[in-house]
Amino acid sequence: MPGSWLHLSKRFFGAVVARDLDDSEVQTIRDIVSTTEFTLFMEQRPVDRRHGYESALYAIGAGATNAVVRAAAMHDVAKRHARLGVVGRVIASILIKLGITVRGRFETYRRHGPIGAEELESAGSPPIVVEYARSHHAGRPPDVDPAVWKLLLAADEAGERSQSVRSDR
Ligand SMILES: [Fe+2]
Ligand SMILES: [Fe+2]
Repeated sequence: MPGSWLHLSKRFFGAVVARDLDDSEVQTIRDIVSTTEFTLFMEQRPVDRRHGYESALYAIGAGATNAVVRAAAMHDVAKRHARLGVVGRVIASILIKLGITVRGRFETYRRHGPIGAEELESAGSPPIVVEYARSHHAGRPPDVDPAVWKLLLAADEAGERSQSVRSDR
């Protein structure tokens, strides 16, 4: 699918040039999420902090509830466990897209959704935060409102777009 390869290359260049959050952006996240979520959020790589922040900003702009904004901010939190740099992530994404069985850190990267959901559940996060982390690459669970799911997917997309658009600032 050319579209998804284009998407992948955009993500690659977005990750290369992503700008870490400044103090006021970090404060915005601190005001939104719980103390435990904030610790997890800050353990992420700068590229994922930027992505979570921009996704949350989109959700705020769309009038989402606090729990939904937190879902947008926290959904990729477990990517950090894979300890992959930009090139490793691109290789992992290509292998996963091609349906090739992956192991080790690539497998951790592939499973960042469910791994993050477990962490967020232990952190006492609201159900939508846990469910969006778990299923954002798998599809909407039946008990999640379709409108909320759509908003979160749009927030995720917006998070990737602004990551590359704003990178030169
Ligand atoms: Fe993800
Ligand atoms: Fe994401």
